[in-house]
Parts: sequence; structure tokens; C-alpha cells
Amino acid sequence: MAGSPINVPGTPVALSIGQNPARPSTPFPQRPAPLDNPPYAFGDDDTAAERHRMLAYIFAPEIKSFLAHVPPKPGLAVDLGCGPGFTTRLIADTLNARKTVGLDTSRPFLDMAGSDSNHDLDFVHHDVTRASFPTGAADVLFCHLLLPHLANPAAALRAWASQLRPAGLLLVDEVSDIQTVNSTFRAYLDAAERMLDGIGGDLYVGRRVERLGRVPGLRRISSRLVKHPVATAACARMFRLNLNAWGPNPHADLAPEDITDLATALDNLSTSTATNEIHWQMRQIIFKATTGG
Ligand SMILES: C[S@@+](CC[C@H](N)C(=O)[O-])C[C@H]1O[C@@H](n2cnc3c(N)ncnc32)[C@H](O)[C@@H]1O
Repeated sequence: MAGSPINVPGTPVALSIGQNPARPSTPFPQRPAPLDNPPYAFGDDDTAAERHRMLAYIFAPEIKSFLAHVPPKPGLAVDLGCGPGFTTRLIADTLNARKTVGLDTSRPFLDMAGSDSNHDLDFVHHDVTRASFPTGAADVLFCHLLLPHLANPAAALRAWASQLRPAGLLLVDEVSDIQTVNSTFRAYLDAAERMLDGIGGDLYVGRRVERLGRVPGLRRISSRLVKHPVATAACARMFRLNLNAWGPNPHADLAPEDITDLATALDNLSTSTATNEIHWQMRQIIFKATTGG
């Protein structure tokens, strides 16, 4: 199922979508499994919060279409790596759980997220690779754009299996690929891929999760690849904020003049009216706890 294009207001358009050359991909076991998670490379200051606002704007339709597969009104829903809370609020509004909790390791993000929380919605500091969760076991665990930042995604899934109530659901919604015909976006994405790879993460972790074998305590009940087109202007603004956050990172292998050129090119695209130059391929997998129904 395709997601809807997100338009920056007032932007009709028509260009053709191209394919990236296939990148080699390896299943989890062929990767070293470092003990420590990489530092979160995209920052957690006000600019990073603005970046998450763009993420929420861009991905809300895709997330909502995924959440539609979950029975409404669960007891406890937990947003894994909630950032400043945009995804957590989307989960709360969509699922109407008795309680929705966002977990994150960033105190600045949690402060931003929690400023207007209430008894149905809470934000708690916790490293989600560590069980047990301070919330207790959940009916729904939701993971969106977190696994690229974890050293050992397979180990994280095993830990999450232990934090589900009987018959509880784990929703994993991660990037499998990003396809673009735009050379500026291609240059940005190649640098982002190098940067995450260099610190032990994986931009396209969705394809690894798809190839993962059996996870103790979990049964895969569905897996789909969702095409999610993104308007060029919105994408350029988000990538520009990201570039501000990690541009000088040595793993990105960008010279200072490359960063300047890329930033200028992204700025130029931020008023584009194109809507079909780039799309995400999101891997959406639902796992069910093997205990219970
Ligand atoms: C790209 S953001 C995604 C935020 C949100 N899920 C979304 O889709 O908008 C990744 C978030 O994961 C958090 N994070 C990274 N490693 C974590 C860990 N081990 N435990 C909890 N949060 C973590 C970061 O602080 C950041 O807020």
C-alpha cells in the first residue's frame, strides 16, 4: 500500500521516480555486535526538535496507516525512542490506549515532550535496549526510526519481546530504502549512510529486520513494504536540518566545501514544487508475543 504524498502547501507537480542501484545488504548475524549503542548522531537541541517536527509532518500518514492494523484502546502503549514526543502523541490520538508512554535517553527531548503531558500520556527516561522497562509490560510497543541508531537491533528485539504482555504487539516501522532521482538528495543520502555505518548504525535497517530469523518470544504476524513519497521541499528542509546536526562528522566523509555546496543545494530545493523525486520504502512488521492468545 502506498502512503500519500506530503505536499508543502501550494505545490502540484510531476517528475518520474527512479530506482537506486541495489545496495548490498547483510543479515544481522554477519555484522559485529558491539556492546555499546552509538551516540545519537543527530543531536537533541532545539534544531533537532525542529527536525523531529518535520519528521512528524512527513511521516504521520505512514505511521497512521500502520497503527490502523492495531486493535484500538489497548491498556498500555509504549513509544520506543520517542524523541520530543510527536510520535507518542500520534500513537495516543490514534490508538486511545488507557496509557501511552514515550521512552527516550535524551533528557532535553523528554523535557520538550513532557511539558504538557497528563495522566494518560507520560514521558520517561530509559535506555530501551535494557529490560525491564519502568512502565512494566506493554500491550503495544512501537518503534519508528530508532533501530538505525542501535548497535544490535536483533538484541533490542529480544529485549522488547520480554516487555510485552501476553499476546501483546511489537510494531517495527523502519526504513528499508530511499529512492530518488535527485542528485542533491542522492549525495546527502550517501553521506548519511556512510556516517551511520561509520558509527555502527544502519540507515536501511528495515531490510535487516525483514531478514531476521526467529526472535525468541515473538511471532511475526505481518510484514509489508510501504512506499511513502515525500515532497521535495519538505525533504530538502529535513535533510538540511540533519546536515546542520552531523555535517562535520568525519564518517560522512564530506569536505567543508562539500558541506557548504550540499547545504546550498538543499536550500535551493526547499522551494521546489516537485512531489515525486524521492520516496521512502518503509518496512512495517508486526510481531506478536508468543505467550497469550
Ligand atoms: C530519529 S529519532 C526518532 C524519534 C521518533 N521515534 C520519531 O519517529 O519521530 C531517534 C530517537 O531515539 C532515541 N534513542 C536512541 N537510542 C536510544 C536508546 N538506546 N534508548 C532510548 N532512546 C534512544 C534518540 O534520543 C532519538 O530521540
